[in-house]
Formats: sequence, C-alpha cells, structure tokens
Amino acid sequence: MAQLDYIGFGGVRLAAQSYGRDDDFGILLLHGGGQTHTAWDAAALALAQAGRYVISLDLRGHGASEWPGDGRYDLDAYIGDIRAVLATLPARPVIVAVSLGGWIATAVLGESETPLATGLVLVDSPPRMDPAGSGRMGDSLRRAATANGGQWDPRMLDGFDLSAVEDRLIDAARQLKMPTLVVRGERSPLSTQESIAELAACIADVEAVEVGDAGHLVAVDQADAFNALLLDFLERRIPLSPPQYVAGFDSRTLRDALGCFATGVTVVTTLDRDGNPVGLTANSFTSVSLDPPLLLVCLANGAGSLPAFLAASHFVVNVLHIGQQPVSGRFASRTEDRFGQTDCEIWDSGVPVIRHSLASFECARDTVHDAGDHKILVGRVQRVQFEPHRDPLLYFRGKYRRLHFS
Ligand SMILES: Cc1cc2nc3c(=O)[nH]c(=O)nc-3n(C[C@H](O)[C@H](O)[C@H](O)COP(=O)(O)O)c2cc1C
Repeated sequence: MAQLDYIGFGGVRLAAQSYGRDDDFGILLLHGGGQTHTAWDAAALALAQAGRYVISLDLRGHGASEWPGDGRYDLDAYIGDIRAVLATLPARPVIVAVSLGGWIATAVLGESETPLATGLVLVDSPPRMDPAGSGRMGDSLRRAATANGGQWDPRMLDGFDLSAVEDRLIDAARQLKMPTLVVRGERSPLSTQESIAELAACIADVEAVEVGDAGHLVAVDQADAFNALLLDFLERRIPLSPPQYVAGFDSRTLRDALGCFATGVTVVTTLDRDGNPVGLTANSFTSVSLDPPLLLVCLANGAGSLPAFLAASHFVVNVLHIGQQPVSGRFASRTEDRFGQTDCEIWDSGVPVIRHSLASFECARDTVHDAGDHKILVGRVQRVQFEPHRDPLLYFRGKYRRLHFS
C-alpha cells in the first residue's frame, strides 16, 4: 500500500491509497458521500490479489483529502477533481464507484469527448433515487456528521444536490461508451429496481446485477459476492491482456504504447529573431549519424517555440541529469519563467547552454522535415560537453524515473 497525493479542482489536495503493482492499467475506486476510501478495503485487496493496480481515492472533504475552504461540493467541483486525477495516470483505468462516487464517475465519463476510462462499475448509483430512502439516509448521515470523528466535512451534505443534476446525469449516462456494470443491493433503501433499470436502459454496453441480502453498501455487506462478480466482469470485459492500438483508433492508446520506450529527457534551446532565449522540454531526441555528426529532435507543430527553431541557425540539446527534474518541469510548463530561474552559459553560437547538464550538444540546423503533427529538426553537432559521472533523468510511461541497478 502506498499513499498518493493529487491536486484537484481549485487546488484542493486529494489523498489516495494504492494497492498492487503500478505497472498495469488500473482501477480507480470512488467511495460514496460520508465514507472514505476504506469503504473499498475488501474490494481493493481482492483486485490487487487478482493482479490489478488499484487507486482508492478519498473524495474532497473526506478521509485524508482536504476540506475545501470555499465549501465547494457541487458536481462540477468533484468532476474537476476526478479529471485532474485521471490526467496524471499513465493509462486509462476502470472506474468502480458507489453512490456519490458513481454520479461523479457518470458525469466525468459521459461528458468527456475522449474516452477517459476503459470500463465502469456503478454500485447503487442511479440518478433518480428513491426520495423516502434518500431522505432517511440523509438524516442518518446528518446525525452521524456530529460524531464522525472528523472523517468527512458535514458541509458536504448541503453542497451536493442530486435532484438538481438528475437530468444531467441521465444525459451523461446516455453518452457512456465503455463496458459498464450496474450493481444494486437487493435491500438498498436508496435505489429501486425501476431506478436501476432506468439507468441501465440509458447505457449502450451494460450489464445489470442485483446482489441478494445486501443494502446500499453492496461491497461491504456482501464483500465476497461483490468481489466475485466484479472480478468476473473485469476478466470478461477488460481483461489484463495487453491493450492494442490499430490505425484510426484513439491516439491515447498509441501514446501509452509509445510510452513503453524509456527515454532520457532534454531541454532544447535556441534564440528567437530578437535574440531572446527560447526552449522546451523534449524526449524525442535521437542520435542519427556519427559521420557527419547528426542528431534530431521532434517538435510539435503546436509548440509555441517552434517558429523560433525553424528560423534559427543554431540550437542546443541539453540532456538532463537526475537532479534536473525541476528544469524539465519548468521547460514543459506554460506558466513558469523558463530562463529566469535557469543557470545558463554561452558557447560559440550565442544559444543558451544549460550549465551542468549531463550533456549539451551545440548544433547548426541541418535540415527540417515535415512529419505529421511534428517537425523533425536535424542538427549538425558542432560542440559537445558531457558530465561522465552523473545519472540521467529518465522518462517512462508518462513518469519521471531514475536508473535502478539491482
Ligand atoms: C518529458 C517530456 C517530454 C516532452 N517531449 C516533447 C517533444 O519531444 N517534443 C515536443 O514538441 N514537446 C515535448 N514535450 C512537451 C513540451 O515540453 C511542452 O508542450 C512545452 O510546454 C512546449 O512549450 P512551447 O509551447 O513554449 O514550445 C515534452 C514534455 C515532457 C514533460
């Protein structure tokens, strides 16, 4: 188990527990209102034992996550949180969510143009709740709020109004495209067979199951039965076999596949027409030829610094060492002052060379090739300096890594 931290909507700090090895595309667990990630303990262990990597999040205002100062517990704030978490994951997960977590997941996935998850499991989470049952549940949560030991923020109860977003959630459910399992506890006071059937009827690729002798918290009340049907659904619909990309399919899968090639990280620098320093982080660096000495880097057509590189006679490729992760972050960020905080020197061409890099290659621009949504910039190496003793900064599956000798 490891503790994970994320920055959610409005800068709210979110905490999560992870289970299992993080080298597979995983499962994101979202609990219900007035719970914490521990509601999923049994399921998280079963999933990890079945070889799945699991992230069990504490929603804002719950468990170890921050209670937002502005008291925002509306659907859009929760959606912003989950989008922020998903954006950090190297591959799209399956989302398994109960109650409040399920409404959030429905909105996040249904309202996104691009597929953000490979599968969805919604536990007792129909947009139209039984009013009498949810009233009683609200009352009991309100009573528990005073004695909940600081496990969740009581303001959460008034911050989220399901009745105001019911229609929006039904619309979102109609847009869900991934394999989806809808689960109901037979004795749930919140859902009815009709409300679950209404939800299931909206979803294109759906299976619906009712678990006997279980209430709202199916995964707690009938942990073994729930885990068995969850694992069965995953094995059948989202098996652990390798994901595949075929031309025309979503480019996210292609990116995930390309991310399997571990690289170093460079910052490529040049001067614009006015002599101002320009640079960006790039891991598309490749050596090309020894005689003549050529290297290349691929720059996105959308990169703001591309015009400067296309116009400049020279550029420098700075290969970063393990201590220069902040430099990489800075030259990939749109908001940070890239050169103000970076120690540079000048060699022959006038282009800034980042001091103490693992290696710096000063190049004259050789050729530029059009290649899809990137330009291939080939440089003729004119001067190099390198540091023989330091370790490289590495990048693999969307994360910074370090060399590990065992
Ligand atoms: C590890 C890493 C590698 C990257 N590799 C490239 C790359 O090879 N080519 C590229 O155009 N952008 C790459 N980027 C993205 C750019 O650094 C990022 O979009 C930057 O903000 C572009 O700045 P600009 O728009 O000012 O040119 C990479 C980012 C990171 C974090």
